[in-house]
Order: sequence, then structure tokens, then C-alpha cells
Amino acid sequence: MPTPNSLDAFWMPFTPNRAFKADPRMIVRAEGMHYYTPDGRAVLDGTSGLWCCAAGHGRKPIVEAIQRAAGELDYATTFNLGHPAAFEFANRLGEILPDQLDRVFFTNSGSESADTALKIALAYQKARGKAGKYRLIGRERGYHGTNFGGISVGGIVRNRMTYGPMVAGVDHLPHTLDIARNAFSRGEPPHGVEFADALERLVQLHDASTIAAVIVEPVAGSTGVIMPPRGYLKRLRDLCTKHDILLIFDEVITGFGRLGAPFAADFFGVKPDILTMAKAITNAAVPMGAVACSRDIYDTILANADTPIELFHGYTTSGHPLACAAGIATLNLYRDERLFERAAELAPYWEDAMHSLRDAAHVIDIRNLGLIGGVELEPRPGAPTQRALEAFKHCFDAGVLIRVTGDILAFSPPLIIEKAQIDQIADTVRSALKSIP
Ligand SMILES: Cc1ncc(COP(=O)(O)O)c(C=O)c1O
Repeated sequence: MPTPNSLDAFWMPFTPNRAFKADPRMIVRAEGMHYYTPDGRAVLDGTSGLWCCAAGHGRKPIVEAIQRAAGELDYATTFNLGHPAAFEFANRLGEILPDQLDRVFFTNSGSESADTALKIALAYQKARGKAGKYRLIGRERGYHGTNFGGISVGGIVRNRMTYGPMVAGVDHLPHTLDIARNAFSRGEPPHGVEFADALERLVQLHDASTIAAVIVEPVAGSTGVIMPPRGYLKRLRDLCTKHDILLIFDEVITGFGRLGAPFAADFFGVKPDILTMAKAITNAAVPMGAVACSRDIYDTILANADTPIELFHGYTTSGHPLACAAGIATLNLYRDERLFERAAELAPYWEDAMHSLRDAAHVIDIRNLGLIGGVELEPRPGAPTQRALEAFKHCFDAGVLIRVTGDILAFSPPLIIEKAQIDQIADTVRSALKSIP
């Protein structure tokens, strides 16, 4: 029988459970830029939780909005019933989403957003009489969450290899990481626009009449911070338009100011047809995700439905009142504190701090854009990923939370970070790398 404090019952996600439970790291509180351990030690959050607490932690306006909402309307379905906050929040998102990309479907996570986006793409092709366009194109090393649609178009082998044949009719573009040509580039790497041309080859292989959509992360985060080469996203957009293929941007990590603009679509000046969101949409104070579609997609699906319900899809907690209240308060905070602009202003300082690690031990590449950073380490011979894991533990003990994936250290601090805290992250990482073999 486990005791109340036993660590056995909770099967922790994406965690080496045995190692963690033998040597746990616990946090009990968070405020502003910091987490706090049970013994009261402050840990600077270099990762916005998990790319999600963009406004920092414990923000009062968000907390109070959630409290108010819980006391007023704890839950209402949005199947055939409306509550004002869901409509208001969708409208508010529409105000900051790219032009005409303002029809919003609510989910509860990034994974659900990815699968919802893929289903909307298929429903759109069917609605306009092109049901033969069923193929979905993802990308090697892509991460679109952990549901079956997302892992099918995703490209991280460990997330896929255990789960059988997955969704049929999927193919992949090559990933865009090219350390040989682009190591230590600042911002968008100069080489690799031609990686987008792989879509032409897939069109030659499958024919455009069978391809519904291409889904990519504008900046790939979970796979280890991979930037799009200069011009790559625009070329992908042009090829999708040329072949009448929908382009889906998975903006689960790039949405809400991470690059210093509301969305990556704004930052790169490339407009997708469908855009996914989650994480920072509510500052992660309540789980939520959303999918924004072009008006054309929404109108086409509604106009051509042969049943009263136009899209057979949704979740019990789509547009949950607490999540909508948190989302509205979060958007207010982003606006009132000019956090997207702040991220843009801090980006050059951040870039310099990240690249100051160039001469640190074991570093073979550094990548940055907006308030995102990735530091790739040379894998320890015979023990890949160990070096990064040790760096993570060392940083945590020294009071800085970073994220590791494979042999890559990933950084995505809250947009409220101060310059001295950026220095603290770089200094802590430098000394961690020095101390590990
Ligand atoms: C681009 C992208 N899509 C989807 C997801 C999945 O989001 P969630 O963990 O909320 O399901 C993530 C999570 O990191 C992500 O980075």
C-alpha cells in the first residue's frame, strides 16, 4: 500500500521513472521568474516551465480571473450550448492572429491541437470535393505531441517506433538541421532553403491530387531547437500554394511572443492556412489548446456539410470556462506589459549570451532566435545524452532550470526575464559544462 507521499503511483510522462524516483527533484511553488524547492531554494526558470509560462509564474491577474470564473461557471459544455467567455476568447485571439486566420477551435493541449488541425485539413479537402487529397506530410524530427495523428506526421523515432503502423498515408520532408554548413549561425541559418524542395519530390512521387496538407513547426523545439533556414518557410508556402496543398504551422511553442512577434507566421512573414496553439495561450495556468483556420476553410466546411453538425470533432472541455478566463487575462497581460515587444527588444542580448557559450566545454553548435536558444553538445563516446543530462542536474543544483533533449540544451525563458538573469543562465551553463567530463 503506497503512503500518501510515495512516489510509486504517479507514472511520470517523458521521465526515466526509476532514476527520478531514486533521486527526485521536487518543486512546490513558483513566482515570477522562479520555482522554489521544498527547502525554499529559488531556481531560475530558463524554460518557461515547458515553453509555456511566457508571462512568468503566479501572475495575479490570471490567478484572479481563474478564481472568479470557477465561482461563476465551473463548467459548461460547448456542444450545442454557449457561454460568453468562449466566444470572447475566440474573438480576442482573432485580434492577434494573422489576418483572416481567425476561426478558432478549442482543444486542451498541443497534441489535441495537432490532431485537430490534421482532421480539419482532411475535412476541408472533402468538403470542397477533393476527398482524394488525403495524404499528410510531416517532417523528420518534427514534434506534434503524442497522439496518433501527431506522432504519425512527427519524426522523432523514439516517439514512434513502439506504436505500430499509425495513421496511413503519411510522408515526411527532411529536417533542416545542417551543422556542417550552419554551425554557430546567429538567428536564421544561411544554408538550407533547398530543403523545402523535397516537397516537389513528394509531389512527383504521390501527385498533388493525393496530398491534403503539410505540417511543420516554424521553429522545431522539442527535437532540440532547429531553426528554419533563411527563406525556407516562404519556399514551403509557395510550393504548397502552387500544388494546392494546405500549410499548417504548429505554433504550440512559437505562438504568443516567443520570437518577439505574436506568432512565428508574423515573424517570418509567412501565412499558413491553419495554425495550432497551446501552452502560452493561458500561460499554462489552465490546460488549453486551440486551432485557428482561415475563413475559407471554416466557410467551406460549413457551407458543404450534408448534416447539421458540420465537423464531427470536439472535446468535453473544449472552451472550458476556466481556460477561457485564464486565456483572456493572459492576453491582457501580454498586451499591458508589451511582452511580445519586450521579447523582441531582449533578443539581441539573448543571442549574445547564448553565443558567449561558444567556447564552453563540449559545445559543437549554438542556435538562437527570439528568446529561444539551443546548445548542442558533443555526445560522450559510448554514452549519448548523458552529458546533457548531467549538465541539466548540475544547473538545477546551481539554481537554474534548463531543458535537455538528446545532447541538446534548450532554453526558452519567460518573456519577463531581466538581462542579469540571462547572464545568470549563461554563467551557470558555462560552469556546468566545465565541471562535467
Ligand atoms: C510544436 C509542438 N506541438 C505539439 C506539442 C504537444 O503539446 P502538449 O504537450 O500540450 O500536448 C508540443 C509540445 O511541446 C510542441 O512543441
